Amino acid sequence: MKVLIVGSGGREHVIAWKAAQSPKVDKIYCAPGNAGIEEYAECVNIGVMDFDALAAFAEEKQIDLTIVGMDDPLVGGIADVFEARGLRVFGPRKNAAILEGSKAFSKDLMKKYHIPTAAYENFTDADTALEYLKTARFPIVLKADGLALGKGVLICNTLQEAQDGVKEIMTDKKFGSAGNCMVIEEFMTGREVSVLSFVDGRTIRTMTSAQDHKRAGDGDTGLNTGGMGTFSPSPFYTKEIDEYCQKHIYQPTVDAMAAEGREFKGIIFFGLMLTKDGPKVLEYNARFGDPEAQVVLPRMKTDMIEVMEACIDGTLDQVDLEFEDNAAVCVVVASGGYPVSYEKGFLISGLDTFKGKDGYYVFHAGTAKGKDGIVTNGGRVLGVTATGADLKEARAHAYEAVKWVDFEHKYYRNDIGKAIDEA
Ligand code: AMP
Ligand code: GLY
Repeated sequence: MKVLIVGSGGREHVIAWKAAQSPKVDKIYCAPGNAGIEEYAECVNIGVMDFDALAAFAEEKQIDLTIVGMDDPLVGGIADVFEARGLRVFGPRKNAAILEGSKAFSKDLMKKYHIPTAAYENFTDADTALEYLKTARFPIVLKADGLALGKGVLICNTLQEAQDGVKEIMTDKKFGSAGNCMVIEEFMTGREVSVLSFVDGRTIRTMTSAQDHKRAGDGDTGLNTGGMGTFSPSPFYTKEIDEYCQKHIYQPTVDAMAAEGREFKGIIFFGLMLTKDGPKVLEYNARFGDPEAQVVLPRMKTDMIEVMEACIDGTLDQVDLEFEDNAAVCVVVASGGYPVSYEKGFLISGLDTFKGKDGYYVFHAGTAKGKDGIVTNGGRVLGVTATGADLKEARAHAYEAVKWVDFEHKYYRNDIGKAIDEA
């Protein structure tokens, strides 16, 4: 079969790599893709929001399955456009992708269906929000309602910070229309875990757990980023916690969406906080995590294409997901200055070192073909992933491999997976 992948990051690279392993797949296209994805896919220069051009391409090439990696096109309704043209697509429709697209929606859903999450209020005007803050307890968390590249969450320690935050989100519209509405919620403490799952509208199959490192600097300092590194599994995500989440969070979320007439087919990414009062939902995403996918998919034994087809066909109950009994660590190699400002176009050396080395992978996040070779083309440039028998071995391998690649202003965190030592 022929597959089209929509997106251009490290997540889409690992999706392409995994799709290429499926005996069912003969040919892969990726729009727009990047220099690393080209190893597995023919990259076509169509923008991820150009749904008509993407659908026309899928028709012309007789694509059997389109996999949408990114949130923006899903929230914008790409799946609806493809379905209306009779094209098979993996990813939720617009009315289900709202689970990620609107934090106010997701909070209201959790409240209505008693899914554990932080206490909150939604606001549509700045004055009411400012009034509410006067009686609030700090720290407190402000969230722009819509998509904001993972940056629309502000943790405020004082009333002044929170007042400034309301102004940034709602008055100055720092995150654009994402700030037309805002959630103010209780600050939670605990360990964070990312659990990704396949969903067919009724049945949910969770993948192995992972943990992200969202801040730019070592020791969780600096600004929030899309994610600076991950490890999988999380040693803190025990069997008991999993059982609790399956019963109180995962299946109830799928059932709630179905009950609302918003049948969810695709990936639900549960961002969880393991609090002393039990696991609570921090956020939902409607797609694979990036860089969570880079540690979860390399550990997955099951044919990803088969699982995605089962999600579309509503036969996920007949699928068993299997994962290797090993561990993986991904260290994101960024361009110095990310997430604020950084330059592009630096030549990358050492990519060939990964060739033929089992258990070592370099997934491209922001790269392009330059005249002398592959160059940097984004803030997050590469995701160096390694597996190992356990987390410590995987971490040692990942930090060994991160030295193989080089480019000007190369930057990465030195403490990805440090939490493993506390397990
Ligand atoms: P989100 O995009 O909602 O996952 O938020 C980004 C990050 O902000 C999360 O990964 C957490 O580290 C942090 N965060 C979000 N909500 C809360 C909360 N209620 N309490 C504490 N930290 C939070
Ligand atoms: N790494 C977090 C995300 O993909 O949203």
